[in-house]
Amino acid sequence: MEIKAIVGDITQLDVGAIIVNLFEGVHTPGGATGAVDRSLDGAISSLIEEGEIRGKKGELTLIHTLDKIAPHRVLIVGLGNREQFDRDGVRFVSGEALRYLRRLGVQRIATIAHGAGIGGMDPQTSAQAIAEGSILGLYKFDKYLDKKENSKDIKEVLIVESSESKISALGKGMEKGRVFAQATNLCRDMVNEPANFMNPGRMAMIARELAAELGLEIRVLERAQMEELGMGGLLGVARGSEQPPKLIILQYWGDPGNQSNNLGLVGKGITFDTGGISLKPAAEMGEMKGDMAGGASVIAAMKAIGVLKPKINVTAIVPATENMPGGSAQRPGDVIRAMNGKSIEVENTDAEGRLILADALCYARHMGITRLIDVATLTGAMTIALGHVYSGVFTNNQELCDQVLRAGKASGERIWQMPMHEEYKEQNKSSVAEIKNTGGRPAGSITAAQFLAEFVDDTPWVHLDIAGTSRTDKERGYNTKGATGVPVRTLINLVLDLSQG
Ligand code: BES
Ligand code: MN
Ligand code: ZN
Repeated sequence: MEIKAIVGDITQLDVGAIIVNLFEGVHTPGGATGAVDRSLDGAISSLIEEGEIRGKKGELTLIHTLDKIAPHRVLIVGLGNREQFDRDGVRFVSGEALRYLRRLGVQRIATIAHGAGIGGMDPQTSAQAIAEGSILGLYKFDKYLDKKENSKDIKEVLIVESSESKISALGKGMEKGRVFAQATNLCRDMVNEPANFMNPGRMAMIARELAAELGLEIRVLERAQMEELGMGGLLGVARGSEQPPKLIILQYWGDPGNQSNNLGLVGKGITFDTGGISLKPAAEMGEMKGDMAGGASVIAAMKAIGVLKPKINVTAIVPATENMPGGSAQRPGDVIRAMNGKSIEVENTDAEGRLILADALCYARHMGITRLIDVATLTGAMTIALGHVYSGVFTNNQELCDQVLRAGKASGERIWQMPMHEEYKEQNKSSVAEIKNTGGRPAGSITAAQFLAEFVDDTPWVHLDIAGTSRTDKERGYNTKGATGVPVRTLINLVLDLSQG
């Protein structure tokens, strides 16, 4: 699909459909919507009058133009309440509108830059959001379907503006949106892929392909090197699986002369989580093919970073393994040692994410990383706390956390900060080792974060628990069923912000 920003009169374009909009409570449409209304002899305003068009967020109303104007159809999208409208609203309605038009088989579409008129949004932001919402909303994972649902894909989306002065900003935003969305869709592809294909070796291969394509540095540690480094956490989890574990290290050098200007992105890469010997129940276990979503998100973010080339060094580190209950699997009660020498009692083999992340965080520090973000589908308790709406964020450094929260706001990926009081650490105390890998039922996401904190010492660190947000059962706005690609766009925004000092 091509997206272009052009100067023109939207009522004069020979396209299958044009998209205009309306805020809730507006009776006389203005701007481009008003112009279209007049050229259709007041068709839109009379539908508003009759109460069919109310402007509710995501509302879609289709009008056939019957040769009154060049475009064959007009789609009026509701933007909702004007006070609550923001760039995520633009993404939302773009996703809804384009999926609707694809179902109708429309292939050439023109849209106005939502919000850039009376909405007061700058045109670059609007165009970026339109590109993101469109590309994300049209995403589908149908490679294993023999009968494809939408055989006709949308070929072209034009963002149309009447004045020349906004075109360069629109074009810039559109390009940026494309990069953000394509990286997000790479993450979605990896997460949606079944675990018989998306195994640790495949994750490493995708990282290798990205490195070759974008000139990134890549290193993949094998079992022998993990043994040398004493990575008892990653090796312990990998014991039950026939798949060899991989530690994937993908580096982007945007400020090579200034090595300490760096950021580490660590992502949990459990390509399937059976729970191990502490086996999970059968119901919904298949969802655990997505337990590498954190790892996928950091690899995918590197794709955008490699294209946008910010002035900062970024290292993605992904410990990748299956968590299987094989004959040599680790057992509940086993004691292992992480790379930093700390002994861990494995009370429950299903709390495997924190074990592999412990080693990856140690390795990041060993590499000289000065700021760390980790992303993981870490705890079921995260979904109990925040549902599928917000990811949880935990930190030992409020300044870095605030930067993540800000980057999240710009991306529309909702993030809520959770408390990290010392007192929660007591739940991780073991009588046979330095620490144990479960803290009991109360505040399960916080005790998991406190466990990770033991392996970063005082390096500024932020932990994102995306267990509730990495996938969705609902087609909604720019999300489709399956992987969401959270928090790829937040990570990209964060890296761009940090690179600007
Ligand atoms: N991968 C799971 C967490 C998870 C659950 C993610 C559901 C997405 C949806 C993680 O490895 C896990 O099993 N955590 C356990 C920890 C417990 C044993 C302390 C959990 O949350 O039950
Ligand atoms: Mn688990
Ligand atoms: Zn897991």
